[in-house]
Amino acid sequence: MDIKSYVKEQKELLKEEISKLEVLPSFVIIQVNDDPASNAYVKGKINDANEVGIHVELRKFSPIISEDDLISEVKKVNDDPSVHGLIVQMPLPKHINEELIKLTVDPLKDIDGFHPMSLMSPCTPKGIIDYLKHENFNFVGKNALIIGRSNIVGKPMAKLLLKEHCNTTMTHSRTTREDMEFYVAHADIIVIAIGKCAFLDDSFKFKPSAIIVDVGINRTEEGLRGDAKRDLPVALQTPVPGGVGLLTRLTLLKNLMEAYYHFTK
Ligand code: GUN
Repeated sequence: MDIKSYVKEQKELLKEEISKLEVLPSFVIIQVNDDPASNAYVKGKINDANEVGIHVELRKFSPIISEDDLISEVKKVNDDPSVHGLIVQMPLPKHINEELIKLTVDPLKDIDGFHPMSLMSPCTPKGIIDYLKHENFNFVGKNALIIGRSNIVGKPMAKLLLKEHCNTTMTHSRTTREDMEFYVAHADIIVIAIGKCAFLDDSFKFKPSAIIVDVGINRTEEGLRGDAKRDLPVALQTPVPGGVGLLTRLTLLKNLMEAYYHFTK
């Protein structure tokens, strides 16, 4: 099933599930910037929530808010029993310590999965695993290659692929071309999130049975493009746009339901 149809189906299931609940699942988005990319992400999250019947409230603050005041705002949501989830939209202004804010969010309400003790996994890696499981991908003993070592994709992706019993290799911007070619040629599943347009292209050799999961979002003159060139000779390659981004958004809603059930059951 393609990602668009899968996400549509999953959202319909969520909507049905939520319609039967007595207490409405609810989350707050704290936004402390006004940049166009963040506004677009926030709008997407609000639309997704509204679509399935989840209550969402956006609390927008001036970028000159002090770190202490932002911490108080986070704690207000932590202490509010009517709210099950909290997102602090990143990036934050430079005078605010992002790591400190991530650690201030109640791990039980941390639907981004940013807190090391979070009840939930980060949305992109979890969304990818859930989708591949739905497609009956057999992880056990497969060679998984991760390209990119970010805290929000690469590292948590490695943890989840190991949990599924993959032989998991992490590579990154300092991996040599020669080594990268070796790892790519042996990979059964490649998750690429390195932030370089068309990093993977025809100059690499792939297993014909390989799967490429493209997490890249690069704005080019031709529109949004991933980190892998389109139509590589593999069994499956997720599209950009209309691929992993949709899985990430879906997983935020699923994480909220996980938090919700934690608080209401
Ligand atoms: N900024 C860009 N992506 C994200 C995300 O997934 N969560 C939050 N909180 N901020 C972001």
